[in-house]
Amino acid sequence: MAIIMDGNGRWARKRGFPRSVGHRAGTENVRKAVKYCVRNGIRFLTVYAFSTENFRRPPEEVGILMRLLVEYFEKEMPELKENGVRLNVIGDVSAFPAYVQEAIRKGLDATKECEKLVLSIALGYGARAEIVQAFQKMLVSGETDITEETVSRYLYTSDLPDPDLIIRTSGEERLSNFLLYQAAYSEFYFTDTLWPDFDDDAFDKAVAEYAKRERRYGGVV
Ligand code: IPE
Ligand code: IPE
Ligand code: MG
Repeated sequence: MAIIMDGNGRWARKRGFPRSVGHRAGTENVRKAVKYCVRNGIRFLTVYAFSTENFRRPPEEVGILMRLLVEYFEKEMPELKENGVRLNVIGDVSAFPAYVQEAIRKGLDATKECEKLVLSIALGYGARAEIVQAFQKMLVSGETDITEETVSRYLYTSDLPDPDLIIRTSGEERLSNFLLYQAAYSEFYFTDTLWPDFDDDAFDKAVAEYAKRERRYGGVV
């Protein structure tokens, strides 16, 4: 399952709060999502937390998102470990402040033995950048046998299955540069619910809707 966690800003605005309050509520909701997956035997959860384009936001907002990220990595670590959640990051965090990169490194290291759920956080992630860096790496390593499988291997998601279901909250119906290659046959679920309000019932509804879909992969049934 993959989630485009959108609508934090609007959630805060509706309540007359600054956007930062929405980002905090959104970050806290990731805990719920993780628990839902662990409880329901979902083995891979990928969440879109910060896109390459999100650097265009005002520096104060970017700063808040960075600090929340570090807080998440530090605060959630014991519970993630307890629940058997392995952290993974997809994207390019080289432009992130050093203290954030350090927190990420520690988080990845602390959970590397966990096996129940892989929580991949898309940070500094852009699908086009991901595809471009894949081709650059293939070129450097002298790869000549370029197949769909080879390309997959050079993406940030080389260890992950393609998402079966991609959820986007907040009423927007677009990918915003998320998993373009991997989403070739994903099912999409769009909802007006804002990310901080997306609770267990909302998850159940999304999963029930997914269960009704007939996946044909271009064939006939
Ligand atoms: C999603 O919420 C979180 C990030 C993109 C970091 P937004 O901040 O995009 O919230 P809206 O879309 O402005 O409501
Ligand atoms: C997509 O949300 C990125 C994340 C959820 C991290 P945005 O709010 O950045 O997307 P746009 O700008 O509405 O397409
Ligand atoms: Mg948004």
